[in-house]
Amino acid sequence: MSWWRRGVIYQVYPRSFQDGDGDGVGDLAGLRRRLPYLAELGIDAVWLSPVFPSPMADFGYDVADYCGIDPLFGDLDQFDALAAEARALGLKLVMDFVPNHTSERHPWFLESLASRENPRRDWYVWRDPAPGGGPPNNWLSSFGGPAWTYHPASGQYYLHSYLREQPDLNWRNPRVRAAMYDVLRFWMRRGVDGFRVDVLWRLIKDAQFRDDPVNPAWTPERPQEERLLPLFSADQAEVHDVVAELRQVVDEFPDRVLIGEIYLPLERLVTYYGRDLAGAHLPFNFLLLETAWRADAVAALVEAYEAALPDGGWPNWVLSNHDRVRVSGRAGERQARVAAMLLTTLRGTPTLYYGDELGLGRVPVPAEAVQDPWGKNEPAFGRDPSRTPMQWDVSINAGFSMAEPWLPLSADWRTRNIMTAGDDPGSLLNLYRRLLALRRERPALHAGGWAPLAVAGEVFAFERRAGAERLVVALNFGAEPQRLHRPDLAGARVLLSTAGRDEGATLAEPDLRLAPDEGVILEPVG
Ligand code: GLC
Repeated sequence: MSWWRRGVIYQVYPRSFQDGDGDGVGDLAGLRRRLPYLAELGIDAVWLSPVFPSPMADFGYDVADYCGIDPLFGDLDQFDALAAEARALGLKLVMDFVPNHTSERHPWFLESLASRENPRRDWYVWRDPAPGGGPPNNWLSSFGGPAWTYHPASGQYYLHSYLREQPDLNWRNPRVRAAMYDVLRFWMRRGVDGFRVDVLWRLIKDAQFRDDPVNPAWTPERPQEERLLPLFSADQAEVHDVVAELRQVVDEFPDRVLIGEIYLPLERLVTYYGRDLAGAHLPFNFLLLETAWRADAVAALVEAYEAALPDGGWPNWVLSNHDRVRVSGRAGERQARVAAMLLTTLRGTPTLYYGDELGLGRVPVPAEAVQDPWGKNEPAFGRDPSRTPMQWDVSINAGFSMAEPWLPLSADWRTRNIMTAGDDPGSLLNLYRRLLALRRERPALHAGGWAPLAVAGEVFAFERRAGAERLVVALNFGAEPQRLHRPDLAGARVLLSTAGRDEGATLAEPDLRLAPDEGVILEPVG
């Protein structure tokens, strides 16, 4: 069974994990120091958000050189040392790959700007103004405002699905594809185990550049970008040829993984596994980020996802990332324990986000400290509260940096940190450690089948089975005690409880009683 099926992925947002050189921003030297922590936590692979040279308009998602390391984070030697140390600890290393757009300072874009005749002009998406003047069509940038910026010197507009500092590459141009595939080879030769591909579903746009239709369901609480339905600006049929090509390149090297960032409804998402599974190994499943935190809603989601997967398509689950409100902020701190159990016991590869093991929530960032460009345009959607520094110990700045961190720590860092949580047997951190250890040990959890057992009140129960091994997971999504009548579970052994009940105890009654916010993993007898 391949490592990316069996294993657990952990996302590191490098600016915020560990500062090694005392400038208040995390870097590769800092991450190297913390690799033993990650190995001991029990994860299998680190996915590193972008560390490439970048003007940092979008904090690294605006790449100016795909084959280097930004001096803020280190250099290629530092990277090689990181890769070697990760390998020695048995950890895989997954890099971010940002193909949809470059930085406006990328040499390719500078050439593209130079003139309409420049050989690299067509590496980006240029269009004439609309007949009466103005942008070529109505497409919107994800961060607010139009997706087109006018370039007076050449009299055309260029497309940017994100910031104007992030011009979109033209993936219909075979030269762009070839150059970008060489980037993947460059990193795989350096020992990288795979890629998380940024905004994979947006790489190809409508060949005719038709207007996106108005979204009748938009309300002012939603992001500006959702005023339109991205019918023509994203998720085009031809993108699947690109996905298949990316997969072929990744398959040139043994045992690598291709993960795609895809925000689409379930039926569209699963098409990214590709025909005959020749697409992404793991189209990221973000559906938990958007589902109401209730037993019935989550149960319905899991069933629908399991049913929609193509034959042989391997599932995956994500609870938090650097773009969305953390799970503890969405579901509440008590339910973060239930969420941890859900994430690590569902069928498929889990991705953890750094800091979720501390229960970090929505860390308040005062207006004057806001860094995120989206947060500057649309404060309600600012991503800084999910990107604050990791809290390691009780020393200065929580052990993150000797200097003032680039984003504030959460106010309770003196009690909420890895050192303090490590000493508390009942902490969320230690719950994660036990869950990850159990998951690794039990084939039913890392490889077995999944079947629903019950949805009753606030309880969602399911089973995992591999050969003769059968485990039952029962989760209480509510703050009230729950009781589930299951005579078949009488005598079952408790392997793990989020609420600290004795492990190894057996259930004496025909009723399974769950404490408020409790999840349990049981091993039924016989
Ligand atoms: C992806 C990244 C996000 C970034 C955007 C533009 O959604 O996860 O952080 O801002 O792409 O690159």
